[in-house]
Amino acid sequence: MTDGSEITSVDAVPDNGSYLFTVRSPRGEAEEAILVRCEDGVEGWLNFCQHETDQRLDRGRGAAIRDGEIICPKHGSMFDSCSGHCDNGKAAGSTLVAVDVAVEDETVYLTDRGYTYAHDGGIDDDDDDMPGSSSHLTF
Ligand code: FES
Repeated sequence: MTDGSEITSVDAVPDNGSYLFTVRSPRGEAEEAILVRCEDGVEGWLNFCQHETDQRLDRGRGAAIRDGEIICPKHGSMFDSCSGHCDNGKAAGSTLVAVDVAVEDETVYLTDRGYTYAHDGGIDDDDDDMPGSSSHLTF
């Protein structure tokens, strides 16, 4: 039994693209993360390029993926989907920030001790704060 929060099913992670979700750091700050497929299964990365940290890889429609590499939409640097490493372009020599995930029974779980699962989609996609809606968060 995996000790973590359920993110989504493996089927929801596209072969050519990414699954966007939001996590909270230990300080409670929301951060976006993505799931991508690689030959080892599914990997999780924080959703930003390493040399301009305000540049999202997945802008809400899935990251561009080609030949197993995640392509930064701004300058085109490519990061290996499995290792997160970049050896080309502006971000050469950098590695994406990993978010630990595990797959069990065709489900992807967040197992990273540094982050807690917040919701699917990007930071701005959380509509749970609408007046009158009941929060699913418990403290
Ligand atoms: S912001 Fe990603 S390579 Fe420049």
